[in-house]
Amino acid sequence: MTTSLSLQDQRKINAARHALSFVDAGQVVGIGSGSTVARFIELLGAAPAKPPAVVVASAQSEAIALKAGLKIVPLNDVRRIDCYFDGADEIDPSLAMIKGGGAALTREKIIASASKRFICMVDGSKWVSTLGAFPLPVEVVPFAEAYVCDRIAALGGAAKRRGELITDNGNIIIDVVGLNFSDCDGLEATLNNIAGVVCNGLFAARRADVCIIAGDQIETRTAA
Ligand code: A5P
Repeated sequence: MTTSLSLQDQRKINAARHALSFVDAGQVVGIGSGSTVARFIELLGAAPAKPPAVVVASAQSEAIALKAGLKIVPLNDVRRIDCYFDGADEIDPSLAMIKGGGAALTREKIIASASKRFICMVDGSKWVSTLGAFPLPVEVVPFAEAYVCDRIAALGGAAKRRGELITDNGNIIIDVVGLNFSDCDGLEATLNNIAGVVCNGLFAARRADVCIIAGDQIETRTAA
């Protein structure tokens, strides 16, 4: 049976394929989560020179990496990573991002922070002039849900729990609309300072270093 890919899926594959050129031989690679990353893992597993090991951000990526024949190691064993590869839900010209559509934002942010370089791979629909159209995912300790939602409302945001979803860390996700993204670094820190927030999906303190954008052609951007 043949499956026809959407244009967006084909572009995700193109971005992931281009990202392989940023993998340095012999280095442990950090890997995020999501459908673009899934394609990247499959391509990495089939590459002539596989990395000696990978650190992955989700149970989903772990399963795909194992199937692709990659060796997985815990972040605690390697401590620092040379290069991290991940997708995004939105990315702006400063290479700040909204992430967490797949609910793996906390481990993604940890690995990204522990990595010397962050390569973001997106199809062209994710490239935006200003962040904020995509609801901002926030991982929250379940006990604190109502309190966190009230604090976010005081910031002008409206939060909605993402159904019955429980993250790999045992927490819930709330998706937030209506926040002001004019100061991404400030907003990321303000949200992190609410007791009960584990992590938010705004990646400004740790922006990407390089963004590969797959549209009709491949473009590679560094921060504006
Ligand atoms: C996962 O939690 C996210 O941060 C993903 O990186 C983001 O949702 C992009 O996913 P896709 O590659 O599936 O579009």
